[in-house]
Amino acid sequence: MRVYDLIWKKRQGQALTADEIRYLINGYVRGDIPDYQMSAWCMAVFFQGMSFEEATALTLAMVESGDTVDLSSIPGIKVDKHSTGGVGDKTSLVVLPLVAAAGVPVAKMSGRGLGHTGGTLDKLESIPGFSVAVSRERFLKQAAEIGIVLAGQTADLVPADKKLYALRDLTATIESIPLIAGSIVSKKLASGADAVVLDVKYGDGAFMKNLEDARSLARTMVEIGNRSGRHFRALLTSMEQPLGLAIGNSLEVMEAIETLQGKGPADLTELSLKLGGMMVVMAGLADGLEAGEARVRQVLSSGDALAKFAQLVEAQGGNPEVIQDFSLLPQAGVVRSVWAETEGWVERIDCRELGLIAMRLGAGRNRLEDRIHPEVGLRFFPKIGTYLHRGDMIAEIYARSEADAAAAEEQLRTCIHLAAQPVQPEPLIKEII
Ligand code: URA
Repeated sequence: MRVYDLIWKKRQGQALTADEIRYLINGYVRGDIPDYQMSAWCMAVFFQGMSFEEATALTLAMVESGDTVDLSSIPGIKVDKHSTGGVGDKTSLVVLPLVAAAGVPVAKMSGRGLGHTGGTLDKLESIPGFSVAVSRERFLKQAAEIGIVLAGQTADLVPADKKLYALRDLTATIESIPLIAGSIVSKKLASGADAVVLDVKYGDGAFMKNLEDARSLARTMVEIGNRSGRHFRALLTSMEQPLGLAIGNSLEVMEAIETLQGKGPADLTELSLKLGGMMVVMAGLADGLEAGEARVRQVLSSGDALAKFAQLVEAQGGNPEVIQDFSLLPQAGVVRSVWAETEGWVERIDCRELGLIAMRLGAGRNRLEDRIHPEVGLRFFPKIGTYLHRGDMIAEIYARSEADAAAAEEQLRTCIHLAAQPVQPEPLIKEII
């Protein structure tokens, strides 16, 4: 086999065999295939796409490049969740305790935030003492004992993705649906769950800006997952505005706890119940979506889900008292309220920019090595379709200095676009795939 021929074949729009794809991935990870040839192949994939067979072969070859987690010692059907990322997306903090309290074993590896999107690990680490560095042995033991564990991805999980992603990032080939799907699904397969619910987001604050691309990504991922012998489903959800109100790590933890207390924002609660309901069904613990949702609604109102969250926090070294006393979480030195100076119907929100404002305050990272400030961020109140009156509170800014807060205020005022006529908001949950 010659790498040149495989690049040529893909460039011509022909499908590669599973053996050919494996040859490319193995050769690249071993260092036998140079970056320039792999870049050319990625660009050919970018323009020509891949069949589902090819995308599945790519994903499986990536999984085989490293370690995989064996969850078979934990009884029951293990169901994972993955979000393609967004602004204020703290659903994992709500959904995982919900489903664990409903009897679904949760043994999850999560990621960190980058750019305008946050990451579950950073959010959890804002709880004093909470550690995401969990050994493989403890990971399995905690999942078996209390039914929930959340840890960082180990370095040896899908090394092909680390190398390929870095290359794609430098060669303008990130935005290829089969390459994104392979990257995400390979990590999910290697993490060992039997079933996975994908929350695929679209809109200004999402990775996929429009519904068609998000649908195509969701279908590709579900197809790859199911062809690989696991059970995958996806929700397509809007990220045209932040989910909930809070953006920033400790602020999002507080909002997730309030949601587990039954006092959360309507959009976050709705999505958490829907995702949780699907996970309960996929775990074989309910017969249909309605029954699944009823089951998670029950553990929410009984307080069992909140108790499960406290149990998780304690098991991983954090102080479970945070659920009664938010003053135990990191607090910002400066809090500034921002009031509306104009009025009208909220038509559009620059969601990605709000994520970037929070990042610039210190809530997120520009580069992976940047340090997070867990206490900073925003609470942003306007929702598309509501009427904003002059003098309404638009946001609370949590900052490290008055200068940072003033800059954030100026920036966030430009993120709200008002109309003179009423506006019909898009539904949060658009489709189930
Ligand atoms: N997220 C991933 O994990 N991989 C991609 O390729 C894109 C987004």
